[in-house]
Formats: sequence, structure tokens, C-alpha cells
Amino acid sequence: MPTISKIEKNSSYLKVIWNDGEESKFNYMWLRDNCPSAHDKDSRHRMFNILEVSQDINPKNYNINKEGKLEIEWSEGDHISYFDQKWLRDNCYTIKNNKKYVSPYQLWDCSLEKDLQSIKIDHDEIISSDEGLIKWLKLLHYKGIAIVKNAPTEKKSAFPVLNRISHTRETFFKTPFEVINIPKPNNSAYTAHALRNHMDLPWFELPPGYQFLHCLVNDSEGGNSSAIDGFAVAEYLRKNEKEIFETLTSIPLKFRDKDYTQESHRSFHAPAISLTKDKDFHDIRFSVATMDALDCHPDVMDKVYKAHHRFGNLLHDKKFQINFRLEPGDIFSFNNRRILHGRTEFDPNSGHRHLQGYYMDRDEIIGRLNYLKK
Ligand SMILES: [Fe+2]
Repeated sequence: MPTISKIEKNSSYLKVIWNDGEESKFNYMWLRDNCPSAHDKDSRHRMFNILEVSQDINPKNYNINKEGKLEIEWSEGDHISYFDQKWLRDNCYTIKNNKKYVSPYQLWDCSLEKDLQSIKIDHDEIISSDEGLIKWLKLLHYKGIAIVKNAPTEKKSAFPVLNRISHTRETFFKTPFEVINIPKPNNSAYTAHALRNHMDLPWFELPPGYQFLHCLVNDSEGGNSSAIDGFAVAEYLRKNEKEIFETLTSIPLKFRDKDYTQESHRSFHAPAISLTKDKDFHDIRFSVATMDALDCHPDVMDKVYKAHHRFGNLLHDKKFQINFRLEPGDIFSFNNRRILHGRTEFDPNSGHRHLQGYYMDRDEIIGRLNYLKK
């Protein structure tokens, strides 16, 4: 564990030099706001209110005390803070910002189809061990896709394995939602038609982060599944077709729920590709079925449509897409805002096809994985 070897006072920060040569800048307001005494011991919420000190607050005196803590006597508020050196090092935003960002995502293309075994995990392994659960969560977070094998095939029987992660996300489709052909369908998923690669519910402000399609019966002809890594396609565009990438990340499209059973009009504007603070991929929004009549500025409509057209073609390109067939007891699990999914047409007279679908927020996947890894 590195220790502090030198401290210098500057206009708005303490410069700390560590014995391994690293340097940190600790802003005065940041230090005061993060004083260890600022938080309630039980709730861990901050009780101290930074608005009660002025923007000129600074250390009147500072030193490394006998216990090895950085002790700061503040210029106002009659307060002394004692900082643990390890805490300062672990939370040092200077060192964090100097580090190169490493994406957690493992992008994939059509070659995954030959290695489907690598994304499969046994249902009972998840139920009975944290190792199994962690393996599933890692596949979901890093690759965005997993197929749970040998789940029971009774209705609603995916709840126990999903609840190993967390609660599901409710929508008006109910949980689980039934993917089965019905008369006068309110959604194209409830037909026997082919479904182009799409995400679910792009017209929500926050579409569900993950989707789980539990196959109960699949013995009709057709109805094979497809999946494509939208982040891999976006990465291809970022590298090779910069102008299209720029259009897809900057100009909002419009999506709208057209479900005739709803007494609610839901719609949302968002770009086809959105990025995180580190310029990594955050979301893909793509759905031919539910993109609304666009209302972009007339000066950009042509380039928006051309970018959408190019993106959509790549999102169905053989180079990127995998094809597989769901078997009863499979739970096709994927990041709904990264992986697009589709299916071929099926013949409802040749047999039955019944999937039950569940949604979960992305926070639940990542939060649970971070907890279990520690
Ligand atoms: Fe879908």
C-alpha cells in the first residue's frame, strides 16, 4: 500500500506525492465534502451539507498525524477532518482519470455461432451455486448474451432462476409476457410472421436493459432465432464509416408505441447509438416496426435516413449475425439495448411455439455482478 511522502498546498487543491511516485490533486471542497465524519454510520448517507461552507474553504493547517492519517484543520466551520491514506488512494480521481478506459464488453460476430457452447449455462448450476450465477451474469454483462439450458418447461417457471439475480421489470405486457400467435395481435411478436432483428420497447425513455425468452414449446416448422451484437456493428461503423457513426450518435430518432389496446400514448426521441461518459457504447435503439414518422430537421433528413438504412443493413448482415434454434427449457437471455433479436416465420399449423418473456433492468445485472465479485 503506497503512503504519502509529501504534501503541497495550492490555490484550490492539496497536491499529494506518494512514495511510489504517483501524484494526486485533492480539491478542497471535494475533501471537505468527503470528510469521513460527513456520513451517517447506519444509512451511510451524507449528513454534512457543503452548502453550509463557502467556496473559499481551504486547509488552515494540515499534516500526517501519529496514526498516519491526513489531518486537515479547515479555515471555517471549526472542523478537523482525518483521512485514511488508503481511502484517499483508492478514491483518487487524478490517478483514475490518468488510466486508459478499458471496456467491459467482448464484442462478437457470426463466428460465435460455431462456439454457442461458450454462452450456454446449466439452469441448476445457477440455482445451486454462486459460481454458476456469476458465470451467467458475466456472460450477460460482457458478451450481452447467454442461453440457460435445461430449465423447467412449466409456465412461469423461469422466476426462481431470474430471482437469483433480482426482481423483474414490469410492463403493460405483464410478467411473463406470452410470445405465441394470437388472433387480432396487438404486437407483431404475437403472430407467426418473421421478425427482423429488433430490440423491444425502444419507445420507452428507458427500455428494459435485459430480456429473457423462456422456450416452453417449439415444435412448429420455422421459428428459428437470430441475434446480433449491436455494439459490434456500431464499433465497425466507428472505425470504418465515421460520418454515418456521427449521424447515428448525434441525431435523435423518434419511436412510438402503436399498441391499440393501450389507453396511453408513449413515445421517445433518442439517437440510434448512445455513448457513455467514456465514449463506450451505452444503448442501441433500433426497431423497424416501431420507429415513428421521423421529425428531424429537413436539412438532415436525407443523411439520417441513409445512416439508418446502412445501420439496419449491417444489423442483418451475415458477418455479424448468429442463428440458432431454441429448445424447450432454454432461456435466451440478452442485453435488450445491445443485442438485437429476431426469428424466422413459423407455420402455426405444423405444431406449437410458445415462449414466455421477462424483462429486467440493467442495474440489477451489473449491481448483482459487482456485489458477488467482491
Ligand atoms: Fe422482441
